Amino acid sequence: MRLLAPAKINLHLRVAPPDGSGFHSLLSWMCTVSLFDTLSIDRADTTSIHLTSDDPGLACDDSNLVIRAAKSTLNELAPGQRGLDIHLQKRIPSGGGLGGGSSDAARTLLGLNALWKLDWPIQRLARLSAALGSDVPFFLFGPSSLCTGRGQMVQPVSRPRPKWAVLFLPALALPTPAVYRKFDEMKLGHSDALTLPPDWSSWTQESAKPLLGRLVNDLEAPALALAPELRSLRQDLEREFGRAVRMSGSGSSLFTLFDESDEAKSAVARMKERPGVRVLTTELAPVIEDDLAVP
Ligand code: C5P
Repeated sequence: MRLLAPAKINLHLRVAPPDGSGFHSLLSWMCTVSLFDTLSIDRADTTSIHLTSDDPGLACDDSNLVIRAAKSTLNELAPGQRGLDIHLQKRIPSGGGLGGGSSDAARTLLGLNALWKLDWPIQRLARLSAALGSDVPFFLFGPSSLCTGRGQMVQPVSRPRPKWAVLFLPALALPTPAVYRKFDEMKLGHSDALTLPPDWSSWTQESAKPLLGRLVNDLEAPALALAPELRSLRQDLEREFGRAVRMSGSGSSLFTLFDESDEAKSAVARMKERPGVRVLTTELAPVIEDDLAVP
């Protein structure tokens, strides 16, 4: 089985102060983009789950979300010979705020549900996915959703009108827990941040520039405090592209939006080259053509 696991960007991300457990309630409009990890899943004549990856820096042990997703499915089944060989081709950078590990986990849950003909309803997969990480449930639904709670309550919404996101991927990993810790240290967050703005219903109809003007990411302040070089990169990019540039999730990836692909491609072609920063033009809410696609 060949599966494509898309990255996401947080178009909009509001964060409240921490709750009693140290987690933060949030409100986020998330959207998938056409940057994919590839999962190849084969049945094996063993009882174990074996994961390999083309990324030598990736832990392929029980800490990997793909293994954790597979084991959380197995735990619900009667014992039997359900060995797997899984290969993960990583394209989504780790520590970039693009949800790569979470997407791999969600695609594994969906893939095994099909491979083993379990026919579990999406609510059952959603329950398993929420235990794996706050962003995992979004990837079961996607491609454009409003996420609340810790991120695990997912309500699909219309896709944004702009079709293209240009991603800027600095060679810099920002671990999510560190960014939330800095957020707390800086005493950021208001509980009223979680109220949808009154004009929210019109946001999905906005073209790129006015929409960018409305988008906020409350984790930018702590992330930019931890990585000041990201602040100057963002300022330079905003000047160069003549439009707002936002951060995705807890960083370090930055993005901006375009209505049409020609406009995005010519802006990228004109931009100054920056060593250490990958630039990708991606489609928002792409159709995913893998072995889960309905023919
Ligand atoms: O759920 P996930 O594994 O993505 O969370 C990683 C870390 O980010 C958590 O351990 C927590 O420190 C922080 N976090 C948070 N509030 C959220 C999501 C994540 O504080 N809503």
